[in-house]
Amino acid sequence: TDVKKIAVIAGDGIGPEVVAEAEKVLKKAEELYGYSFETEHALFGGIAIDEKGTPLPEETLAICKSADAVLLGAVGGPKWDNNSKELRPETGLLGIRKALGLFSNLRPAVVFDCLKEASTLKPEVLEGTDLMVVRELTGGIYFGEKLRRQGEHGEEAVDTCVYNVTEIERITRQAFEIAQKRRKKLASVDKANVLETSRLWRETVNRIAPDYPDVELEHVLVDNCAMQLLRRPSSFDVIVTENMFGDILSDEAAMLTGSIGMLASASMGDSTDAGSFGLYEPVHGSAPDIAGQGLANPIATILSVALMFRLTFNYAEAADAIEAAVAKVLDEGHRTADIAVDKSKALSTSQMGDLIVAAMQKA
Ligand code: NAD
Ligand code: IPM
Ligand code: MN
Repeated sequence: TDVKKIAVIAGDGIGPEVVAEAEKVLKKAEELYGYSFETEHALFGGIAIDEKGTPLPEETLAICKSADAVLLGAVGGPKWDNNSKELRPETGLLGIRKALGLFSNLRPAVVFDCLKEASTLKPEVLEGTDLMVVRELTGGIYFGEKLRRQGEHGEEAVDTCVYNVTEIERITRQAFEIAQKRRKKLASVDKANVLETSRLWRETVNRIAPDYPDVELEHVLVDNCAMQLLRRPSSFDVIVTENMFGDILSDEAAMLTGSIGMLASASMGDSTDAGSFGLYEPVHGSAPDIAGQGLANPIATILSVALMFRLTFNYAEAADAIEAAVAKVLDEGHRTADIAVDKSKALSTSQMGDLIVAAMQKA
């Protein structure tokens, strides 16, 4: 049989709790469809700092490189927050994305009808919201030169934001292609009224736009976009933007869906066609405030498995089954605390995972 290798990186905080539920989903998919997954667990993030002295051990990277896909929980926590840059969990996260060439981060935000009440926004504003943030993931201010120095007025810090035209072009082409397969609308988000990197971004987008005449393109300044996302979320289809803007806007988009615990992501390289290598992780972090209590919503990680099935394994039927199971369980009124209106009836992480697994069925 065709054995698929998945590197599993649970990480810190709620990472192991949500990844455990995603692994139940993998197992159920094996039973239902006869797939065969070989999972290999690897140390990463804070736990890897504690046990191996580095957030991204060589062997973890090797396990990821030899796998067909990577499933990741989350990293970070107060224990490592005052560490030097090399000994920070987040540095490992940037390192793994860079080392695997994953420059394209797809973050779909879909509002389930029955969760409109879970959001802090008005239900009628959320109606029909189904957007995809395409976030550039290996460039910009995250990866530019950083330094500390003594200036005239005391200590100074510098973060450099650099983008080259190749980096901009490849992410924009992917975003146009994704838009072509959706509602054919692309919003390119930048700060071209101030930033030179944004001016290059906008010029590049405009130069390649004629190659995608069927896609309606709009340029939106990032501050305005942050506002429009709350004012008219359903009018967005695909949003393409640079690394840090995408980080911020996707957490904002999460609140349209009711919770950051709902948002899945796929990090891809040169191709997003079925069969491509990818790293799949929830958009949220390690949530130290709720870690170890069984309170975390596992849906973001479970929906990341659906993205893995679709984009890496071409298991579209199983991906549909996962998404349908999530929708069914939510429709029946089951909630974790983050999306519950009545918190006293909230389910635990594993109860939610078990219900979704039980609801998975062949079409
Ligand atoms: P966070 O996403 O971890 O948490 C923000 C808030 O959302 C918290 O109140 C948390 O309880 C809640 N939340 C997050 N995920 C949830 C879930 N699945 N179910 C229910 N509630 C959930 O962001 P933060 O608090 O800013 O960061 C905490 C740590 O995580 C930091 O160390 C940060 O660097 C790290 N982080 C890691 C990743 C990643 O690994 N990809 C992403 C973001 C943040
Ligand atoms: C994310 C996270 C990371 C990022 C941090 C933890 C480095 O916020 O995946 O969204 O900013 O990319
Ligand atoms: Mn983030």
